Amino acid sequence: MRMDNNDQLSQDLSAIMVIFGGTGDLTHRKLMPAIYNLIRDQLIPEHFAIVAVGRRDKTEEEYLSDVRNAITKYSRNKIDEAIWSRLQEMIHYYKFDFTDLSGYQELKLYLDQLDTVVKSGGNRVYYLAVAPEYFETIVQGLQASDMAVKKDTWSRLVIEKPFGKDLKTARALNDKINEVFPEKSIYRIDHYLGKEMIQNIMVLRFGNSIFESLWNNRFIDNVQISLSEKLGVGTRGGYFEQAGTMRDMLQNHILQVLTLVAMEPPINLKMDSIRTEKQKVLEAIEEFTPEFLKNNVVFGQYGKGMIDGAPVLGYREEQNVPSSSETETFVAMKLHVNNFRWAGTPFYIRTGKRLATSSAEIVIQFKSLPNILYFKDQDLQEPNLLVLRIQPSVGVFFQFNTKDFSSHNGIVPTKMDTSYYNPMQGNTPEAYERLIFDILRGDATLFSRWDEVESAWTATDRLIQYRERRRNNFPNYDAGSMGPVKAFELLAKDGRKWWNL
Ligand code: BG6
Repeated sequence: MRMDNNDQLSQDLSAIMVIFGGTGDLTHRKLMPAIYNLIRDQLIPEHFAIVAVGRRDKTEEEYLSDVRNAITKYSRNKIDEAIWSRLQEMIHYYKFDFTDLSGYQELKLYLDQLDTVVKSGGNRVYYLAVAPEYFETIVQGLQASDMAVKKDTWSRLVIEKPFGKDLKTARALNDKINEVFPEKSIYRIDHYLGKEMIQNIMVLRFGNSIFESLWNNRFIDNVQISLSEKLGVGTRGGYFEQAGTMRDMLQNHILQVLTLVAMEPPINLKMDSIRTEKQKVLEAIEEFTPEFLKNNVVFGQYGKGMIDGAPVLGYREEQNVPSSSETETFVAMKLHVNNFRWAGTPFYIRTGKRLATSSAEIVIQFKSLPNILYFKDQDLQEPNLLVLRIQPSVGVFFQFNTKDFSSHNGIVPTKMDTSYYNPMQGNTPEAYERLIFDILRGDATLFSRWDEVESAWTATDRLIQYRERRRNNFPNYDAGSMGPVKAFELLAKDGRKWWNL
């Protein structure tokens, strides 16, 4: 892992990491395997402990055995006994119902005592790996027992999405949290920002003159961002009914990726310089008025179909989903970033569940040349395409035209693909390794700042309200397809198509 040029980083990484939701899925699948691998990479400080807070009655042995099983199953590296024994020493299971505010004082005493044993200097990471409805209660508990901010130490609060369910609730939650933790101590996770190729967007753009000099509306015809999943909602129907694709994927992952593709070069690599440029992109997105949305957005919901040769249920048949659900599992839209760099170049985005492929890609389509010398028939000219492959393949694909050596005058597109297949780039612990390490060293670059969240909600709220006012005729795409026909028409009416390279 590379250290950034960032002068605000903690010198002392020693800390106690308190995980609320210590017996939950996130802790087992992501956090523990990530910490295990961080130990392996020697990135966890010597003075470090993990206090896993859970409601379940478990002995420390039982808890450790669960963690070991999870690491065996989800870690990218096999269990090494020496590393496991180091992790095992760090973990403490603390049984506590975190909705019981009277218990926080006792937790504080426990942590203070542990501090003296571990010599972690009083620094704390409070990781809320719990359902969002508990965020406020826990923060309140931390405040009441004086655990939040202490002199001469650092305390950081880590929050998973969803951060609110709309602008109003997000603001209310933020106000509450801000009473206890200052913005600089709040780490709002968007696991997409932990992915290698997402971090590579800035390097590719600002580290290569051939890209950066062409990265604007004069040379780029359109940008396409596709985050597609074969997975359905599985057992998460209850959650998904409240969220839908717009809250689940668009408000966070899609808009975060968009900001990195469209941002101006920051003046340096300090976290706030980067986040300020990202924020400006969100502010420059053309307002989603109902008139604009009428022609530029497509919602979808999957019906039954086939995935990898096996039949799968439609969304309305999934567990905890009503048979008349109007929740979207797919969104495609065109949007404009109205600034000097991008005015006139559309961004097409799409994301959905139960699609034909599981992949995340950004396609930059460059403008075509006049058909004066070659390609006299307009249809024959293949545009230059730069594809940033995020997952499962990771790397860069570039398409350019060359002479077809097997004919006299033919021209063929040459496809240069530097990407490699890496199934570990999905929603796996890997992204969390980088994110947890950054939390410890106090680098919030890869976390969403409040104004980004606020702008993202402003845009998403308009989409959600628009969708809620319509009857959608769901289901409107088969599982295993690439979404509703209208999503293809969205580009076809502009004389374009989704690239699938
Ligand atoms: C999560 C969503 O944030 O991202 C899930 O809640 C989705 O619904 C997941 O499946 C996708 O992440 P990845 O890393 O697998 O593309």
